[in-house]
Amino acid sequence: MQNLRIGLVGLGTMGAPMAATLLRSGFILSVYNRTTARCGPLVELGARACETLGELGAASDVVITMVSDTPDVEAILFGSGGLAASLAPGAVIIDMSTIAPAAAVRFAKLLAERSVAMLDAPVSGGEAGARSGTLSIMVGGERAVFERILPVLNAMGTSVVHAGPAGRGQMTKLINQIATSLNLLAAVEVVRVARAAGLNVEDTLRVICGGAGASWLLTNLGPKIAAEDFAPGFRIRLQDKDLQLARAFAGGLGVETPGLALAASLFRRALEYGLGELGNHGLYRLWD
Ligand SMILES: NC(=O)c1ccc[n+]([C@@H]2O[C@H](COP(=O)([O-])OP(=O)(O)OC[C@H]3O[C@@H](n4cnc5c(N)ncnc54)[C@H](OP(=O)(O)O)[C@@H]3O)[C@@H](O)[C@H]2O)c1
Repeated sequence: MQNLRIGLVGLGTMGAPMAATLLRSGFILSVYNRTTARCGPLVELGARACETLGELGAASDVVITMVSDTPDVEAILFGSGGLAASLAPGAVIIDMSTIAPAAAVRFAKLLAERSVAMLDAPVSGGEAGARSGTLSIMVGGERAVFERILPVLNAMGTSVVHAGPAGRGQMTKLINQIATSLNLLAAVEVVRVARAAGLNVEDTLRVICGGAGASWLLTNLGPKIAAEDFAPGFRIRLQDKDLQLARAFAGGLGVETPGLALAASLFRRALEYGLGELGNHGLYRLWD
């Protein structure tokens, strides 16, 4: 499996540490990034940098895409000079970006017409999870392709689940975003109220994180909120994108989601206030 030639497109907050993790696991890796300078640190770790998507496609059996949003994935796959034109029949695309489930289904169908398989495999666990290879990965697509590619996914994640056919990985991720956004809102409120009450915020977080109110968000981002360290991580503009996708998805199912509606409206306001480049815990700033 380590003989598979892997390509990775998108060396942002997540893609760069995921690429480093794959190299550490012994995979042969080519990388492409729109802003070429971001390839440098990966080349130092042993990756080959490609100047075009076409070059990366021709050099890869499996291509991972980790870019921002649905139109970006579409451009990388099907735009002029995109991957669809350069991948050989039998190749596999693993899109690990968070995008609309219906688009993932459409992209998989278009690629299948060229005998290229696609898995939608979005992730949770943040930059720290990407660095340590401990992401949660939720996968949609053909089970046989999933099983063939599992060693690649296992290098990046410790909780890797096949959720069903194309699009199901993205559906699972959007449901995950309901949980993360509401837990984040709770973390912001916990710090605000504890501070207003004159409690020691660190002690308050420590004791809550040992009890039933604990969450990954409170444990990992609570102390950053308390320290007013809002460096990204996962940016507010991406959180807003995910919550709009989640609202459209849940709305299409006819399921009422009042918690999601509240979280989505608050992140939209944060974006409108110009907070989009802060980490998502920068939601705290909405009440500054
Ligand atoms: N950050 C997190 O904690 C986290 C956690 C789970 C899931 N995600 C999801 O993972 C994906 C990536 O997130 P991120 O935080 O890594 O984002 P990021 O730091 O903003 O990086 C985005 C990457 O995509 C590239 N890109 C964007 N649009 C492109 C286009 N049209 N053509 C070519 N390249 C393009 C960027 O290239 P340039 O360098 O040229 O701008 C950059 O490499 C998103 O879908 C996000 O929702 C993020």
